[in-house]
Amino acid sequence: MRGKLIFLIGFMGAGKTRTGKRLAKALDFPFLDSDLEIMKNTQKSIEELFAEEGEAHFRSLEKEWLLGLGPNPTIVSVGGGLPCFHNNMEEMNKRGITIYLKLSVEALAERLQQSKTVRPLIEPYKQDELVLKSFIRAKLEERDVFYNQSHLIVNGLSLSQNRLNELIDEIRERL
Ligand code: S3P
Repeated sequence: MRGKLIFLIGFMGAGKTRTGKRLAKALDFPFLDSDLEIMKNTQKSIEELFAEEGEAHFRSLEKEWLLGLGPNPTIVSVGGGLPCFHNNMEEMNKRGITIYLKLSVEALAERLQQSKTVRPLIEPYKQDELVLKSFIRAKLEERDVFYNQSHLIVNGLSLSQNRLNELIDEIRERL
């Protein structure tokens, strides 16, 4: 019997990595981040992968990486687009528990403007708040149909310790 993986999904800037690390620490599970793992495997940055090989190739690397995940219980933070390509959402729902960290367009825009991470899809819009917000709104509309298939939906903006503890209880019940 394969163990359950716990996937954190959501839009760029939703705080998946930060929340994932907190959950991993509290549950004493290892933590993995799809972008970091793909960068390690390819020895390239996400920016280089998009520029040199294109988005479609990046999506196939994500798919391949997802299918190769081992059986041990692990907290897995996945890139914002991963659930929306191939059958990745279905695969994650089969392999474990999916948690959607849901933030408003306003909160995402603020966090993305402050973030130093280079995200190829965001770069062209990052400087202008209104343009960025309308990009996020349109992309979220496209992606919510996938994100909303998650087992749990959490309003993600800086989870209080109480809310994190509740989430841990919900995860334990499903493990
Ligand atoms: C992407 C999200 C990024 C990264 C890439 C594409 C997306 O990860 O995988 O830049 O399509 O939403 P984060 O969600 O961790 O920023």
